[in-house]
Amino acid sequence: MIDLHCHLLPGVDDGPSELEESVALCRRAAEDGCDMIVATPHQRHPFWWNGDRPLLEERLAAVQGCLGEEPRLFLGGEIHLDSIELLDEVQALPHGSLASLAGSRYLLLELSRQEGYGPDPEEVVHELLVGGWKPIIAHPEMYPWMREDETLFDRLVEGGALLQVTAMSLTGAFGHRARGIVNRLLDEGLVHFVASDAHNLSRRPPGLSAAFSTLSEGWGEETAHALTTANPRAVIEDRPLPGQPAFR
Ligand SMILES: [Fe+2]
Repeated sequence: MIDLHCHLLPGVDDGPSELEESVALCRRAAEDGCDMIVATPHQRHPFWWNGDRPLLEERLAAVQGCLGEEPRLFLGGEIHLDSIELLDEVQALPHGSLASLAGSRYLLLELSRQEGYGPDPEEVVHELLVGGWKPIIAHPEMYPWMREDETLFDRLVEGGALLQVTAMSLTGAFGHRARGIVNRLLDEGLVHFVASDAHNLSRRPPGLSAAFSTLSEGWGEETAHALTTANPRAVIEDRPLPGQPAFR
């Protein structure tokens, strides 16, 4: 399996603070069946701006150095939709401060927890798609205001965005509400990825195997494979998801 959303870099956000913790986190993920992980530190977040790409790359190399070959790590970012100015930063890729997922055209975007803060997600998704980027919205089930606008994520997917749900939401570890939203999105075929969004070994641990089992039981093994392996692999290899049209 391949984990596209994991806070594994030491000392850059609310993930591990020390290198040893990062290494332990990655080893746990590997034991649980992940052979590739994208490190996604918060970016453009009010608490963790993380605009220093060389520093992020350096930390990634340090973790990989301790791990050896496996699991294989890549750099990415969980980009907070704080302002429309982020479109200028995206234009600067592959240089500048932001990191796409493993250097691909796929971007992991986090919406604000507060409704109405930041730019209109539909507008940003549209602009990114026009620019040839593939926006992935992180954990739609985690935004408290979603209850007020249940159809936003349906519209975003219709408009071309992809959705990533969190493994612990799917398994019920984050409660009924998160699980209910994830179940509905899965039933409607709107989910493209399941990722761990791991932060530590205690409360938010890595691992996708429990989610794989839940998916297999509820939606079939083919879906479980697509969301944990085949679709994330397409991201790492910077190609369209299986069954989707070629990039322009
Ligand atoms: Fe995250």
